[in-house]
Amino acid sequence: MSLVVDTIESGYDRAPILTGVSLRVDPGEMVAVVGSNGAGKSTLVRTISGLLAVRSGAITVDDVAITKLAPERRARRGVVMVPEGRKLFPQLTVGENIAMGRRAGRGRTSGEDPVDALLDTFTILRERWGQQASLLSGGEQQMVALVRAVAARPRYLLLDEPSLGLSPLKTLEVFQLIELVRERTGAGILLVEQMADQALAASDRAYVLEHGKVAMEGDAATLRASDEIRRAYLGVA
Ligand SMILES: Nc1ncnc2c1ncn2[C@@H]1O[C@H](COP(=O)(O)OP(=O)(O)O)[C@@H](O)[C@H]1O
Ligand SMILES: [Mg+2]
Repeated sequence: MSLVVDTIESGYDRAPILTGVSLRVDPGEMVAVVGSNGAGKSTLVRTISGLLAVRSGAITVDDVAITKLAPERRARRGVVMVPEGRKLFPQLTVGENIAMGRRAGRGRTSGEDPVDALLDTFTILRERWGQQASLLSGGEQQMVALVRAVAARPRYLLLDEPSLGLSPLKTLEVFQLIELVRERTGAGILLVEQMADQALAASDRAYVLEHGKVAMEGDAATLRASDEIRRAYLGVA
């Protein structure tokens, strides 16, 4: 049981961006993908979620190939993405945005609804329930985007730069929500981040993406402690 990306190649128009990327996310695991701007992190997330075609290689969910499925069908199989920049429906309210997530996950609604537990802890979202999403702060919008994704009942959750544009304090809060999402849903989480230090601190395992290839992989704490990684990716001498 896992989300497996096996030697995929993908890109835009002529240029291949990802050239033979392989990775794995197990249920309940937090896996970071770190790498500098332009490394191909968003391309990877778009390819796994089905917005970009796989040119070669395969993607499987719990041993079933999803390589050629449309994004909505992947979502129904439990592969749910939170895109870079949140991409909420700006005119809709917080509650309506979250309802859209429920619709995406239709058919997989058994068991306890994890959304309630998240809202009980992050009460700001209940307070903002009837407000238009575009009026929220960046951190609040990121939280809504996360809860919307959880409402789709993910088994594997792909998060593209949840810290983007947020202060360190807000980033911390969003990471706390992500941790709670993992606890409550048991989903495997692929956390794609340029903020390598925080992402590695939050994760079990990690992959370093460089020029569309996996340059390094391993235990997140080990990578975080490595001088080579710190010099190359964390801006620390
Ligand atoms: N829509 C696009 N069309 C063509 N090239 C793109 C497009 N989006 C991204 N790229 C290119 O793909 C490479 C990887 O980008 P991206 O996956 O967004 O990196 P990251 O998310 O790691 O910053 C970059 O060279 C970027 O210029
Ligand atoms: Mg990106």
